[in-house]
Amino acid sequence: MITIRPFRAPDAASMSDIYRRSVTELGPRAYGPQQVAVWASLKPSPERLVEVMNDGRHCLVAVNNQDQVMAFGDIECDGHIEYLYASPDIAGTGVVAQLYDALENAAKAKNIAKLYSEASELAKSFLLKRGFSVVERRDFEVNGVPIHNFAVEKRLRKAS
Ligand SMILES: CC(C)(COP(=O)(O)OP(=O)(O)OC[C@H]1O[C@@H](n2cnc3c(N)ncnc32)[C@H](O)[C@@H]1OP(=O)(O)O)[C@@H](O)C(=O)NCCC(=O)NCCS
Repeated sequence: MITIRPFRAPDAASMSDIYRRSVTELGPRAYGPQQVAVWASLKPSPERLVEVMNDGRHCLVAVNNQDQVMAFGDIECDGHIEYLYASPDIAGTGVVAQLYDALENAAKAKNIAKLYSEASELAKSFLLKRGFSVVERRDFEVNGVPIHNFAVEKRLRKAS
């Protein structure tokens, strides 16, 4: 059984590990080996995760019966999604969908007008199924390796 709950500092080590595993095990479905390697090199340390997840943003984790983190995601105060990462053990099972729904509900409760992100190919597929649209493809380099993602957004309420 999966429970969605707020982030707590002791989750950070598992989250850093989920980042590494999701990039190295799921990333190759859409990105080449060099791209996966530079993406993995951007892995946030547990200390960095504790810092950013306590900056006022909303961070939720999906945990199993043993309270082990299976996926995590965040929404910053302005609606930006910086992280959405799933353990390969539960990718494709609907756990991330539960997590996302809870994040979107929290954003609506905070009256956030628009969600937006720079989504990987995998996250783009996931978010388009949830009403996001692609604003543009972004091509850039990380340590000399060309890689791309997509600016995506979803309006939650009419601009005032
Ligand atoms: C993005 C992510 C959280 C989505 O969670 P998920 O449970 O995999 O979501 P979905 O099942 O909807 O899968 C999204 C896409 O991943 C791929 N995918 C997921 N499970 C797959 C599987 N078992 N086999 C092959 N491809 C799979 C597919 O391309 C799928 O898109 P599709 O439905 O159009 O085919 C997860 O894929 C992940 O952690 N990816 C790696 C990290 C990442 O890209 N994070 C976002 C950074 S911006």
